[in-house]
Amino acid sequence: MNSMRSLVRQAAKPLARNAFAKRTIFSSPASLSDALFVHRDTPENNANVPFEFTEDNKKRISEILKKYPEQYKKGAIMPLLDLGQRQLGFTSISVMNEVARLLEVPPMRVYEVATFYTMYNRQPVGKYFLQVCTTTPCQLGGCGSTKILNAVKDNLGIQVGETTKDGKFTLVEVECAGACVNAPVMAINDDYYEDLTPETTEKLLENLKADKAITPGPQSGRHTCEYAPGVYTTLNEEPYGPGFRVRDDL
Ligand code: FES
Repeated sequence: MNSMRSLVRQAAKPLARNAFAKRTIFSSPASLSDALFVHRDTPENNANVPFEFTEDNKKRISEILKKYPEQYKKGAIMPLLDLGQRQLGFTSISVMNEVARLLEVPPMRVYEVATFYTMYNRQPVGKYFLQVCTTTPCQLGGCGSTKILNAVKDNLGIQVGETTKDGKFTLVEVECAGACVNAPVMAINDDYYEDLTPETTEKLLENLKADKAITPGPQSGRHTCEYAPGVYTTLNEEPYGPGFRVRDDL
C-alpha cells in the first residue's frame, strides 16, 4: 500500500512542477475604448446631482410616449436618453435614473442601453463634439482619415478622447459613419463634414473657434455624393418620355 502511494506521489510530482512552471499570469488588457463602460462618480456626474427635464422636454416626452402602448413604454428609453443628453450636454447617471423613473423600469435597464450605444456620452464633452471616422474606406478615401485625424490633433493640441482646456472641442475616433462615398468624414455634433482634406479640416476648426457658422456636407464643392469629377456617362441626358420603345399599336 505504502509503495503504491509513493508511486502515485512520484508520478504526480513532475506533472505538478510542470503545471506551475508553465503557468502564465495574464493581466487584463488595456482598455482601447475612449470610455469606460462602468460608471465612476465624479463631482458633476453622480446620483446626487439633481436632474429634471425642462417643461418643453416634458411636452416632447409625452408626445414620444404616445407612440408606445402603455405596457411597452420602456421602448422609449433611447429617445428619452437622447433628449436628456441634448438638455444636459451628456448622459449623466442622473439623466439615466430620471429616464428609468419616468418609464417605470429598473435603472439597470437604462444603464444597459446607455453603455451599449456609443451615441450616449456618459461624461461631459465639449461644445463641438468631433467624431473622426477612421474605418477602412475613410482611411483609403481622398487623402485618408489619418491625415484628417492628425490635422485635428495638431490644430487643437489634443489627443483622441480629450477635450480642449476651454471646453470647446472633444475629439473621438469612430467606426464607419455610414457616409463612405464621401470619405474621409468627420461628424461635428449632429452634422457630417465630408470629402475632407487637412486644409478644409483646419478651416472648419478655425471657424468653429470663432463660433462662425460652417456648412455641413462635402467640403470639396461637389453636390452630395455625385460622381466627384463631374457628370460622366450616365444620367446626363434628358429622360426618355412615356412610350419610349413601346409599339405604336399599344
Ligand atoms: S468608413 Fe468612414 S464613413 Fe464609412
